[in-house]
Amino acid sequence: MQMKPASIYDIEEIYNIEKNTNKHPWSKENFESSINAGNGSLILKIEGNIVGYAFFSIAGSDSHLLNITVSKDHQKKGFGNKILEKFIYQSKVLGATVIFLEVRVSNELAISFYEKYGFKRDAIRYNYYNGNPKEDALLMSKQGL
Ligand SMILES: CC(C)(COP(=O)(O)OP(=O)(O)OC[C@H]1O[C@@H](n2cnc3c(N)ncnc32)[C@H](O)[C@@H]1OP(=O)(O)O)[C@@H](O)C(=O)NCCC(=O)NCCS
Repeated sequence: MQMKPASIYDIEEIYNIEKNTNKHPWSKENFESSINAGNGSLILKIEGNIVGYAFFSIAGSDSHLLNITVSKDHQKKGFGNKILEKFIYQSKVLGATVIFLEVRVSNELAISFYEKYGFKRDAIRYNYYNGNPKEDALLMSKQGL
């Protein structure tokens, strides 16, 4: 098992996971611009293949989780835990004192996953996600890394 930052050459493989795993996937361009913007990222590889990843941005004392995904056929094996733990650790090492994220209110699995790591429910942002119908976002944060 190996965890390292994503490079532009990983996007094809990441996008294949993304489109098969997320109902509302990021586009290839979303990943590309996240990397080009200098955002943080982690890819988790098993036997040379990417099985999960996270994208995040850290600015001063604030860390923001933008995307965390584990490929469908590798879920429920603890890889999500490993990626989130490494992301929290990196946020702390890079000077963040708080982590923010948004999650769809319907994504109960992810909400309980974050709560396990001490994320609190802060607020609802109505119609945050485009689509038909639009969906509300739950804003969560974790203080005191
Ligand atoms: C959320 C996600 C990253 C978790 O990855 P994973 O590798 O399956 O997670 P793990 O196996 O490490 O489990 C982590 C925790 O998730 C929760 N979880 C995972 N599978 C679950 C299930 N079937 N039912 C309830 N909770 C579950 C539990 O809290 C679990 O903690 P535990 O290990 O103490 O039981 C993964 O489900 C995913 O990629 N989902 C699609 C993308 C997504 O929704 N991302 C978050 C959007 S903001």
